[in-house]
Amino acid sequence: MKLFLDTANLTDLETAKGWGILEGVTTNPSLAAREGLEFSELVKLITDLVPGPVSAEVTDETVEGMVGQGKELAAIADNVVVKVPMTREGVSAGARLVDAGIPINVTLVFSAAQAILAARIGATFVSPFLGRVDDIGNDGLGLLRQIVEIYAVQGYDTEVLSASLRHPQHVVESARIGADIATMPFGVMNRLFNHPLTDIGMAGFASDWEAYQQALAEKRS
Ligand code: E4P
Repeated sequence: MKLFLDTANLTDLETAKGWGILEGVTTNPSLAAREGLEFSELVKLITDLVPGPVSAEVTDETVEGMVGQGKELAAIADNVVVKVPMTREGVSAGARLVDAGIPINVTLVFSAAQAILAARIGATFVSPFLGRVDDIGNDGLGLLRQIVEIYAVQGYDTEVLSASLRHPQHVVESARIGADIATMPFGVMNRLFNHPLTDIGMAGFASDWEAYQQALAEKRS
């Protein structure tokens, strides 16, 4: 399972890239709005920084408008993936973008039925929003399990991008279920590193090493 960051923040992207684990980026209009740059400029900066797929979302609500925006976004860089919403218009626009050779990510997916539609139009990625499903008292991981099972049974090529992840356990369970990608906020990726026994182990090694060096220094003097 690949690890993507769900952010448009360049500082966070640079940090995660430095960790050597960043394989792609997802953005959405709400995340882009926080950065205060022209959207096309922001997408260009992100695609220059991260070589993997960078999802950039259309905002028009008409088929023609989404197709036009999608083509403009795709022209920014080779690694742009156009995000279209799971609406009738979004699916229609997505199908046309796929026909034009532009990779798409179908977003705002909350049911297995919607995920089937995304696969049938040849989406590169389908994005079920696990956290938002949990937020309304339903089972986000259960939804992911259904989609992964259906895609395997049907042999669909669309990759399942587990999205709206709120904590490291969402990431771990997404991997167990068989998601192709997990996209997460910077805070969640940062917490994947954490374990108290690692901290205790590091402190123990550091103090033992220091004592060892002191003992050697005393022996030499
Ligand atoms: C995915 O591509 C979306 O941008 C994202 O995961 C939404 O997450 P949220 O529910 O935390 O806004």
